[in-house]
Amino acid sequence: MSISIGIHDLSFATAEFVLPHTALAAHNGTDIGKYHVGIGQESMSVPAADEDIVTMAATAAAPVIARHGADRIRTVVFATESSIDQAKSAGVYVHSLLGLPSSTRVVELKQACYGATAALQFAIGLVHRDPAQQVLVIASDVSKYDLDSPGEATQGAAAVAILVSADPALLRVEDPSGLFTADVMDFWRPNYRDSALVDGQESINAYLQAVEGTWKDYTEQDGRTLGEFAAICYHQPFTKMAYKAHRHLLNHCGHDTGKETVAEAIGLTTAYNSVVGNSYTASVYLALAALLDQAEDLTGQSVGFLSYGSGSVAEFFSASVVADYREHLRTKENLQAIDRREVLDYAGYRALHERSFPTDGGEHPTPAQTTGPFRLAGLSGHKRIYEDRGEPTGAPPGPGG
Ligand code: COA
Repeated sequence: MSISIGIHDLSFATAEFVLPHTALAAHNGTDIGKYHVGIGQESMSVPAADEDIVTMAATAAAPVIARHGADRIRTVVFATESSIDQAKSAGVYVHSLLGLPSSTRVVELKQACYGATAALQFAIGLVHRDPAQQVLVIASDVSKYDLDSPGEATQGAAAVAILVSADPALLRVEDPSGLFTADVMDFWRPNYRDSALVDGQESINAYLQAVEGTWKDYTEQDGRTLGEFAAICYHQPFTKMAYKAHRHLLNHCGHDTGKETVAEAIGLTTAYNSVVGNSYTASVYLALAALLDQAEDLTGQSVGFLSYGSGSVAEFFSASVVADYREHLRTKENLQAIDRREVLDYAGYRALHERSFPTDGGEHPTPAQTTGPFRLAGLSGHKRIYEDRGEPTGAPPGPGG
């Protein structure tokens, strides 16, 4: 028996602060056209001193729990590549902050920016085994590169919470998937570094190779044809990458690669990523949120997804949009999350970038900078201390179930 399983709810959160690329350009003397046009970025989210992947994740997930309850959630999968601990899953902190039941399995997944898609697929497997259960998939990342490095302009931060269930309200995820893995060193972060290393050109080439590789496998698995997709959500380390990737795919398939054809498929998917910056695991699902929030009615149409994680693993899959999905969107809250950010000047950004916790095991409270519902209060005896301000999470009294 084939049951429909997919995305029942999707909510995102981003950081407290934002740095406009104009400020970065003024600091380093770059022509702003390189940022606005060349890489397709307007601004990037910057976490406050008392924010991290856990506080953003809890902020993204709280409205999902508020709307649907936690009774059916027996698994939380937390995808990240900016992990805060080598052993403990960041999801356990979120589980605690959200007051989820103890009868829950919680685990963290990693494969660069691809991790959330693995989490989504594993969640579908779990729901298939028991359609009464729901799985909370969380993708949360802070993208950080060295100051004055080429990657600096492609930083960002965000979290997405996705509730996976049978009879989903938003999208039914379809079979098959096209898969691709290749051992490349385009982007990585050794355990002793808190900022990533990237070979920019290599990462673009590796990404394009993965587009071809996943598409080849997707086709061999009898997937849909390119013309069947109303839109394609690409992983967006910078939004121009989605344009490069889609042009590459169209060309590979012998289709027209004109500006309008490309814009038609991906134009609406870049709106959030262009102002939030790279959110690694969350990025492809921010593309989805932007698409659903802005598009004319997509009911019954197919959306393609190209999820790429450096190193590299990629997956191409599709989903069909469920009738009445618009009643379940969080468009207003998504725009609020972006608009509420406080604009930093370059000096403020730099000070936050240079912050790191001492490693002496002492008491290290953080300044209260974030105004969100959850904060990282500090470090004590090497333990991260989180605080729930008990504030409303902005969850609308939406439909139940
Ligand atoms: N006006 C318009 N466009 C301009 C410009 C200007 N004044 N100046 C430069 N550009 C264009 C360039 O032509 C180039 O476009 P193209 O790639 O279409 O040719 C683009 O801006 C970027 O310029 P480039 O010289 O390549 O920039 P860079 O050396 O600073 O590197 C990245 C850019 C994106 C490669 C770099 O920021 C990076 O490595 N980011 C991290 C990427 C990542 O996270 N990868 C891993 C996950 S996939």
